[in-house]
Order: sequence, then C-alpha cells, then structure tokens
Amino acid sequence: MPKVVSIKELRLFQNENASNHSWGLVPTMGSLHEGHLSIIKKSVSENLITFVTIFVNPTQFDDKKDLDNYPSSVESDLEKIHAIDPAICVFVPKVSSIYPDGTASKKYELKELDKTMEGQNRPGHFDGVATVVQRLFELIQPDVAYFGQKDFQQLQIVSLIGKSMNIQISSVPTVRESNGLAMSSRNNRLSIELRNEARLIYHVLKMSKEKFLTHSISEIKTLIGNMFDQSPAFVLEYFEIADESTLKIADEKQNNTTYRAFIAVKVDGIRLIDNLSLN
Ligand code: PAJ
Repeated sequence: MPKVVSIKELRLFQNENASNHSWGLVPTMGSLHEGHLSIIKKSVSENLITFVTIFVNPTQFDDKKDLDNYPSSVESDLEKIHAIDPAICVFVPKVSSIYPDGTASKKYELKELDKTMEGQNRPGHFDGVATVVQRLFELIQPDVAYFGQKDFQQLQIVSLIGKSMNIQISSVPTVRESNGLAMSSRNNRLSIELRNEARLIYHVLKMSKEKFLTHSISEIKTLIGNMFDQSPAFVLEYFEIADESTLKIADEKQNNTTYRAFIAVKVDGIRLIDNLSLN
C-alpha cells in the first residue's frame, strides 16, 4: 500500500513507475469527503498512476485559529483512498519537506485573479496556495492535476501555475450534500441544525441564477443581502457576481461574458464558500 512520507520514498516510487505515464495529481488537505473522492476517482479513471497529497498547508491560513482547528484524519483518509484503488500513491509530507528553507510563501503575480473575493478577504491566502501547489508540482511532476470547482478562484489561480509549468489542469464539479450545501471539511464543525440551515447558501446561489436574466446585478445583491439580514445565524462576508475568466467584479452585465456568483458566509464562526455559474 503506497503511503510515502519522505521525499526519498517518493523518488523511489517515481523511479519504479517511470514508464507508467500518465501521472495524475490530486492535492488535498485531508479530512476527505465525497467531493475529494470524486476528484480522485476522475484521476484514477484517466491516468496510469494517481498521486494524492495530504498536507495542511500553514502558509495559506490567514487565520491561525482556523489552522489550529483544521481537522485531521489521515488513517481514515488512507482507507477511503485505497478503497478506490490500492495502487494510489498517497504523499503525506512533513512541513519541513515542503518548506526546507522556512515556512513562508513566495510572492506571485497572478494577473489580478487574487485581488477580489477570497484574495481580498484572506490576505496572503493565494500566495500560500500558489507556493504549495508549485512545490507539489515540482516534487510530483504530474502530467495533469485535478482541482474542484468548489474553490473556483483557486482553480483559476492554479491554472496559471499549471500553464507556466506545462501541467494540464482538470476541474471537477462541486459535490453537494442532499440539502445542496457544498461538501467541505469544515461542515463537520457545524451543529446538525446549522448544517441543515446552511442550505440557504446554495439556495441564494440558485436564486441569483434564476433572477440573472430578469434583474440587474445590484437588484440581485440587494435581494440576497436582505435575506441574510433576516438570518441572524449567518454573517454574509460577500456575495459577488464576477466575470468567470478574469474574476473581476461585475456591476453591470456585458455581452459575451460568462458570469459566476460567489459567496462567503460565516456560520457560527465557521467560514463557508460556494459559487455557481450564472449564464
Ligand atoms: P482542500 O480544501 O482539501 O480541497 C482539495 C480539493 O478538493 C480542491 O481542489 C477543492 O476545490 C476540492 N473540493 C473541496 N470540496 C469539494 C466539493 N464539495 N466538491 C468538489 N471538489 C471539492 O483546496 C485545498 O484543499 C488546498 O487549497 C490545496 C489545493 C490542497 C492547496 O493546499
């Protein structure tokens, strides 16, 4: 059962499998749910070797409390991964393997993709993501790397990194709970009642999609702001409609542009994000 921890073990596995391309990579922070598993299944179906990485990357957490509370369940993650395919190579590196020169992000020029929404609300977050993803790409050297549309802004940013390193990026649709709430490792920290009420997040995204044809962007924003004002358990951090390719926030609809709605909400102090394509 290939679980590798050191870079030396990783190199050994890679040398043994040098002729078994293509290689797929699924980077994760662990605490795996069906969303992660759907990505892993896609990689397994499209590649001869799949690498899954489990690494809670300290440099992408702008909130130390969030990092300290981030769940960890490596043993049950390994069981879930190897139930899909026992040949998957799971790389669980130490912080010092990823950051041999000290735990810090590099600075990236990300074509302004990091200036809005998550980038604006979580300073330094995307430099941390880009740093770890670039490092994982260098270590694993995959042909293709898989990411979820659940973190759409992250997906666009890692696509830039992939392009610069000649690694194909493939995306996977968001997997949801039966009530519509996007699966997230953070959902487990919500009470059953709040987890149920958090269906409001997907509900407002669907509503914005319905209204998008007939209402202006500012009308939609007002409507959604009012809905959250009436839901005291939820603090709306942002609801934005943005151009899907540039991630620039839209105030008015333009022709020939693909729009997506993006939302971040705090529920009982736990931060949840989601997004939905509008047209
Ligand atoms: P993590 O939150 O563990 O997510 C790993 C991958 O799973 C990401 O590509 C994310 O978009 C995807 N994912 C999460 N929830 C999903 C869902 N409900 N449906 C489909 N895909 C989902 O994202 C990260 O880790 C980190 O930032 C990482 C890229 C690993 C860098 O540290």
